[in-house]
Amino acid sequence: MESANSNRSNSFFELGLNRNQKIYSLNDVPVLGKIPDWLNGTFIRNGPGMLNLKNRRLNHWFDAMGALHKFEIRDGKVDYSCNFLECDSYQAAIGTGDLKFSEFATDPCKSIFKKVQSYVFPSLPNMTDNPKISVTKIGEKWMALGETPMQLEFDSKTLQKIGVSEPVPGAFSYKTTAHPHFDKQHAFNLVVKFGMISYYQIYDVANPGSKPLASIPVKKPAYIHGFGMTKNYFIITAGPLVVVPIELLFWKRPYIENHKWRPQDGASLWVINKNNGKVKAYYQTDPFFCFHHVNAWEEGNEIVMDINAYDDASIIQNYYLRELEKPDSELSIGTIRRFRLNLTTKKAKSEILSNACIELPRIDYNRYNTESNYQFTYGVSLHPQQRQGFYNSLVKINTKTGENTYWFQEGCYPGEPVFYPSPKSKSDQEGILLSIVVDTESSNSFLLILDAITMLEIARAELPEPVVYGFHGEFFPSA
Ligand code: CO
Repeated sequence: MESANSNRSNSFFELGLNRNQKIYSLNDVPVLGKIPDWLNGTFIRNGPGMLNLKNRRLNHWFDAMGALHKFEIRDGKVDYSCNFLECDSYQAAIGTGDLKFSEFATDPCKSIFKKVQSYVFPSLPNMTDNPKISVTKIGEKWMALGETPMQLEFDSKTLQKIGVSEPVPGAFSYKTTAHPHFDKQHAFNLVVKFGMISYYQIYDVANPGSKPLASIPVKKPAYIHGFGMTKNYFIITAGPLVVVPIELLFWKRPYIENHKWRPQDGASLWVINKNNGKVKAYYQTDPFFCFHHVNAWEEGNEIVMDINAYDDASIIQNYYLRELEKPDSELSIGTIRRFRLNLTTKKAKSEILSNACIELPRIDYNRYNTESNYQFTYGVSLHPQQRQGFYNSLVKINTKTGENTYWFQEGCYPGEPVFYPSPKSKSDQEGILLSIVVDTESSNSFLLILDAITMLEIARAELPEPVVYGFHGEFFPSA
């Protein structure tokens, strides 16, 4: 039993990570089951497309050259296409067979590295412009987003590059998140500005060139992948995976490896007034690490905030390819942790809502973000009976009851589940989930469509090729 599992997790690595995406398009992808007739639109997912360059393999799941995958769904039919993100780091990687820009956990070889360093920015290497993490629409522009402030605008029909923009200009010493928050005309994002004094700043990236809405000085900035927002507040959560900025100036190792886990510092949380940018409350809590915020809202004199948290930052180590390729690899278990931040007493309390493992959490964002009647979170998971290897199931967590419902199929590794409501939907489970699955039994991938109420399959669209296991997608309904 043990060895069967081991083989399976290894075959996932070869099929779902240790390969370069085949670029092709296919009309009328074979569909099993019946796609709901109301589901018309475009599902686009971002993520790694190339982890093996000609001359070297990259170190970490977050290092890859990104690729977009698109499923056009129309009248029960599905057309598929994919393309690499055609940015400078990708062109250089293709041209030289090596890395020319600094990625999350891999740096270019020293000889290339020095050349880049000297003409772009005197003290920092040229950070990747490969925005491989998420996709969004800002106004009418289709954007691929990453953690450097370089966003790639693409043509939604061809997935080809239109241009690269930098909403915070001159930002070579900045990092941002691929998880902006939306609010009518605004798209808010967190920016970390490194310097002798560093800052966490919030910008409205829908208004390029505008001043920061909030600016918090910080000595040792944390690695931050997302932030929280209620109707009236932003919430910045900084776990103790921190960097001393001077380390970045010397840049002796790849970006993330300059960060140190300092549990003795605990975690810092700031609640910031959206209207005036002032800190409303500051909290220090036990240490935790998180990539993803799930939801947050106001309740009386409290902020309630759900995040996908870990006790420490070892999950980043788990995602190195040298770890993931081990037959007995194991991932740290992330869970949904609910914080109650009292604005009067300035006390923070937290509890774990469910014992289910979850990552890449999604909610019905458009209708329930900042709303207290939100109930369900969906994500990738490790099934309780098979917690070895990579994410092998999808989970739906009822945050009110702690109840978990899984989708699991032997040998399948589903990616992030994206929720979209059905036409008469009255809750955040009345709708479907879209997920791209790596299937090691048939050595390909399929687009899975689940009923979010039952977590049972409605339909799947079978591709002839595997899709490299990725990060975040979005469904954009037809107008
Ligand atoms: Co993310």
